[in-house]
Parts: sequence; C-alpha cells; structure tokens
Amino acid sequence: MKWWRLTMVRVIVIMAMVNLLVANDKDNHLLHYNGTTSTSTILKEESVVRGTPLGVAVFEVAVDDQDSNVTLTLLPYLLHQARQMRMRSWCKQVVVVSHDPVFLANFAEWSLKGRLLVWATKLLVVTSLPLPQLHALLSSHWTFSMMNTILLNLEDTPPNLRASVYTYLPYSPEGNQAVKVAAWKPGSGLVLLKGRSLYSPKYSNFYGAKVNVTGLPFPPYWDAVKGPDNTTQYSGTDYMTLVTVADALNFTVYIMPTTSWAEVTGLVEQRLSFMAAVHHTVLLARMERFDYAWVHLQGRADFSMADPGLKPQWQSLYYPLLAVVWAAIVLTMLLAPLALLLIIRVSESRMGGEEISALVVALDLGGILLGQSLPQRLCKTNPSRVMVAAWLVFAFIIGTAYRGNLTAFLMLPELAPRPETIEELVAAVDRQAHVDNRRYQQLLIAKYFIRADGTHKLYIGRDGLFPTQSAFPIPHDAPYKPAIDRCLMAVKEAGLYEKWAEDLLFQTQMKAQKKQKQEAEKETESDNNNRSLTFTHLQGAFLLLLLGLSLAGLTFVVEPLTVWHQQHHGGKSE
Ligand SMILES: *[C@@H]1O[C@H](CO)[C@@H](O)[C@H](O)[C@H]1NC(C)=O
Ligand SMILES: *[C@@H]1O[C@H](CO)[C@@H](O)[C@H](O)[C@H]1NC(C)=O
Ligand SMILES: *[C@@H]1O[C@H](CO)[C@@H](O)[C@H](O)[C@H]1NC(C)=O
Ligand SMILES: *[C@@H]1O[C@H](CO)[C@@H](O)[C@H](O)[C@H]1NC(C)=O
Ligand SMILES: *[C@@H]1O[C@H](CO)[C@@H](O)[C@H](O)[C@H]1NC(C)=O
Repeated sequence: MKWWRLTMVRVIVIMAMVNLLVANDKDNHLLHYNGTTSTSTILKEESVVRGTPLGVAVFEVAVDDQDSNVTLTLLPYLLHQARQMRMRSWCKQVVVVSHDPVFLANFAEWSLKGRLLVWATKLLVVTSLPLPQLHALLSSHWTFSMMNTILLNLEDTPPNLRASVYTYLPYSPEGNQAVKVAAWKPGSGLVLLKGRSLYSPKYSNFYGAKVNVTGLPFPPYWDAVKGPDNTTQYSGTDYMTLVTVADALNFTVYIMPTTSWAEVTGLVEQRLSFMAAVHHTVLLARMERFDYAWVHLQGRADFSMADPGLKPQWQSLYYPLLAVVWAAIVLTMLLAPLALLLIIRVSESRMGGEEISALVVALDLGGILLGQSLPQRLCKTNPSRVMVAAWLVFAFIIGTAYRGNLTAFLMLPELAPRPETIEELVAAVDRQAHVDNRRYQQLLIAKYFIRADGTHKLYIGRDGLFPTQSAFPIPHDAPYKPAIDRCLMAVKEAGLYEKWAEDLLFQTQMKAQKKQKQEAEKETESDNNNRSLTFTHLQGAFLLLLLGLSLAGLTFVVEPLTVWHQQHHGGKSE
C-alpha cells in the first residue's frame, strides 16, 4: 500500500469493482488522464494489466498549483467520461484521492452536476484534513452528506500513520451529524466502531425529521382546504400516499409554500424540496430537469362528452310492436271489414232492411280496435254477432299489449348511440369532447355534472386516447429513491391507492347528489318531479295529432277545389 505517498497530487480514481484497491502514484504508470485517452482504452488496458475480467478505470488530474484553473476545466469532461463508464459497467465503488479541500469541494459540485453517483455506487474519499474542515466539508455538500459516501482521513504521517473513517448521517436519532465509523492502524487493521457500519443506510428511518415537499392542489390527487385557525387541511390520493410513506419512513411532512407548478418542480430541481408529492406525467423533456420516483399511476388520457340523452321520441309509439305485427294488424284491418261486410250483405239480401255502407263498417271496426263502444248496428244477425265478438276479443288483446308496452317505452326511452371509441369520436366531431386524465374527469363530472337521480350529464368514453405514466418528481439521482420506491410499491400493491380514489369519488358524488336533490326539492315541492313524463317522452302523440290536423287541413282545402273543378269542368262538357 503505497497510496499515502501521494502527497499533494490531486487525483480522482474511478474503480469499477469493489475488491480491487489501486495503488497509484506517479511511479505506478497507471493511465494518466491527458484529455484524449478514452475510458474504454483505460478499461481494457487495466484488465490486461491485472489479469482479471473485472475492470478498473483510473482518471488522474495531476497538475501544478499554478494551473488550478486547468483542473476546473478538465473536471467536467473527466466526470462525463467517468459517468459513461459508471453507466456501462456495474460500477460499485468510486474512490477519490485528494488532499486539497478546494478540489474536493469542486468534485462534490461537479459530480452532482455531472450526475456521476447514484445510491448504488459507493464513494470513498481519501484525504488528509483537520477535523473542523472535514466536518464542514461533509455537511456542506450533497455528494458527501446525502450520497453513499465515506471519508478516509489520514492522520499523522508515516511511520505512525493512522486513519479514521467518517460518514455523514443526515437523519439519525441525534439529528444530522458527521460520525466516525471506523479506525485504521498499521498493526490492527481496520476496526469498526461499535454499532456502526462502513456504508450505513441513511434513509431507512428519518427519526421524525422534518422533510420538505412541494405540491399544489390538483384534485382528486391533492387538495387543500382552509381549516379553522389558519390551518390548511390536505386530502387527495397522492397526499395520502405521501403521508403513508412518511409514516413508514418516520418523517414529518413540511409542505413548502409555492404559487406555481414551475416552482413546485423548480424547488425539487434545486434539491430544496425532497420531492413533489403530486404526480407528474413522465416525459423525456422533464427528465432532463428531474428524476421520477417509482411510477405509481398508470393513467390514460380519456375523452368525455355531453351525454346525447334521449332519442327523439316520436318512434316510441312504434317501438312497442314489431314491424311484422304492425303489418299483420294493417292486413287484418283491411280483411276484417270486407269479411263482415260480406256477412252483412248476405243477411241483408235474405232478410231485407236498411243497407249499411261499407265505410260505416270499416269505421266501426276501427273504433272497436281503439277501444270505442260497441255499435249495435253491426250485430243484427247471428253470423255478424260472432264475427264482432271475435273482433272484440282481438281488439282487447292487441290493445292491452300495446298499451302496456307503450307505457314502458315512454318511461324507459331508448338512449341515442354515443361515441365510445376513437373512431366513433372522430366521426362525431361536431359535438365537443374534453380530453384529460380519467380520474380528474370522473371527479369533475361527479361534482358538477350530476343530476338529482344520480345519473351524469357527461360520460367518459370506453376507449382512451393514449396511455400515460405518472410519478412523483424527485431530484436527479436522489439517494432516497430506493426507500421511497419501496413504500410506493407497498401502497400501490396493497390496493390502497385505488381504494382511496374510489372512496373520494363516492363521497364527492354523494355530496353533489344531495345538493342537487335539495335544489330540486326547493324548486318544485312535488318529489316525484323526476318521474313525470316530459314533452320529449310524449312527442309522438303530439306529432300524430299535428299530422292529422294537417291532413284534415289539406282535405279541407282540396275538397272544395275538386268540387269546384268538377262543376266547372262538368258544366263545360255538358
Ligand atoms: C495523450 O496520450 C496519448 C496516448 O498516450 C498520446 O498519444 C497523446 O499525444 C496524449 N495527448 C496529450 C495532449 O498529451
Ligand atoms: C483562474 O480563473 C479565475 C476566474 O475564472 C481567474 O480570476 C484567475 O486569474 C485564473 N487563474 C489562473 C492561474 O489562470
Ligand atoms: C421515529 O422517530 C422518533 C423520533 O426520533 C423516534 O422516537 C421513534 O422511535 C421512531 N420510530 C421508529 C419506528 O423508528
Ligand atoms: C390568520 O392569518 C391572518 C393573516 O395571515 C392573521 O391576520 C390572523 O391573525 C390569523 N388567525 C389566527 C387565528 O391565527
Ligand atoms: C425546508 O424548508 C425550510 C423553509 O423553506 C428551510 O428553512 C429548510 O432549510 C428546508 N430544509 C431542507 C432540508 O432543505
């Protein structure tokens, strides 16, 4: 182990594997970074050198103090290369060696900007700093305080070299603090202190710490209502999820005051907010600004439209009977008067008496079918009596069946067809459709477009437009992502999220329906108002009457004309 000999040289070492410790100083002829050597070359050469398939990449920035600006310009490029390597291999450990606190601070800043580290990649910082400076360094940089970092501090110089290992715990029973976890001496080797581990889990328990989150009202996911005494009461499915996660991880939620959605995610980007606890749709453009926790909402953009309501009702007079039955009735209406007329004529010729006109017979039979009284003039002889009796029974059965069915068709009218799929929607573009996520629309419909009888004025199409995935925004490479994800999965898999959503929708619907009912009762005292037949239901009867009136009118006009024409024409021809 010659690494302590490396005194004032600023070096970054990136290692792909845990188990290999690299002794690197100038004599060692490891690859010196000179701005052109690609990481893949480094990897390959190192593998060959070591004779193992496991790779180690070493990046070294070795410059004089006068050229400290060169370091700063090289650093971003170097970290970019290092990140590429971290993503290509299953990099477990990054080692940074430097005795310069300014360099370490720069590294902390640039590794954050260059997105070098994730929680799964461990960082070992080897340095030699006085304790106060070390504590300040640990606590003031996200890379050192929040990420999976330990710091090996060399104390004293050889031959009595000693080393201590420190880590920073942002959440512990004693609050945030830098703690010593192990000590190293030449004789005894590395000794862990009691109850400590080198890489301690930092986010399995927050010990009641206050955690900043951001969110704005977006029902039904997040809602804020002013309570008594200037308090704000929150509700909504995403909020309940947040509270459940907070419960599991033992932190208290502090909701940072925000005014816009840009601010909500902006604070997350700046790492001032732990996460935005209102789901955002996962978009590539957004991922350049922040990461997402586990996708807990597989949604869909759905469309909703005004319910087309009842079909025009004049057909409801026709619907009670099938077309064949109607045809049979018309045929009977033609044949029965003929048969009766035949019977009557035969009797008349045998017995004599006043002659009944054919029109009267037809009208009387029609009258019986529509429930009129029984005219005596039809049943003067036995055969005609039998015939009329049969007709009465026929009229009774047909009339009863039609009346019963007609009532049903008037009360429960046929609904007009409504677009359910995208193709149907496109075909029906003349009406307006609203596109948004399903739950949000369901809530709005339940709240504002409900009738007193519980039916809705809007409906949501069966087919969605496109699927969406939504999750909570968190800062890039947030180290607590695994802990949060685990809780989110538990919430989702237990079905809690769906249950909350259903309950919320049900409550909203009940409240809105109650309100509608009260309003309806205020307007009309009769409570069976919604059971009365409307004009739409009875359209058919009025249309039929109108048709009759127009026919009568037409006849009224045409008849004198024909009479006049006949007289005129006849007069001329005579
Ligand atoms: C970097 O190293 C490579 C390979 O050793 C060499 O060919 C190249 O000239 C070096 N570049 C600089 C700028 O030193
Ligand atoms: C380093 O850069 C800073 C500003 O970027 C400048 O003021 C300083 O003179 C530079 N130092 C050297 C040694 O070039
Ligand atoms: C939660 O945090 C409080 C405050 O530090 C602590 O007393 C309690 O034991 C913690 N609960 C659990 C389950 O760890
Ligand atoms: C509520 O807030 C308003 C303004 O912020 C303040 O004037 C008022 O005193 C507060 N009321 C209580 C009960 O705290
Ligand atoms: C949380 O927010 C408060 C107020 O904005 C701020 O003072 C505090 O430093 C924040 N805490 C963290 C851990 O960022």
